[in-house]
Amino acid sequence: MPTISSFVCAGSLALSALLASQTAMAQTPAIFKYADLELGRQLIADNNCNACHAKKFGGDGSAIYRPQGRLTNAGLLRGMVEQCNTTLNLSLFPEEVTAIAAVLNQSHYRHKD
Ligand code: HEC
Repeated sequence: MPTISSFVCAGSLALSALLASQTAMAQTPAIFKYADLELGRQLIADNNCNACHAKKFGGDGSAIYRPQGRLTNAGLLRGMVEQCNTTLNLSLFPEEVTAIAAVLNQSHYRHKD
């Protein structure tokens, strides 16, 4: 019966979409929950983060981000970005530091807490 099988199919599609969105939410650390990822991407571009990293590490600079390294959770990652902010005199606001760290977490570190 084609009608029934297509109904079942649509139902499981909706269910897997729901599960996928719940998984994505569960993977966002609490401190990045309200981070503005668009702002973070813009700030990473504006502050030449990758340009400087690329000079030291080659490629597109992303080899500097070591998910298996010492930044073992979201708080330490954010702290590192804060440290860069201070050292490099970037004058970023706290929510901007959070936004940048959230983008790096999403693209590289993937910490869940
Ligand atoms: C002037 C050069 C320079 C600029 C600009 C710069 N960085 Fe870095 N960054 C470095 C160097 C060098 C290291 C490696 C330091 C170390 O290993 O102790 C580093 C390391 C890091 C790390 C740690 C990576 C890891 O997993 O250990 C993060 C995160 C980071 N930078 C983020 C940023 C962000 C975000 C920006 C832009 C807002 C930025 N950096 C701008 C030079 C720079």
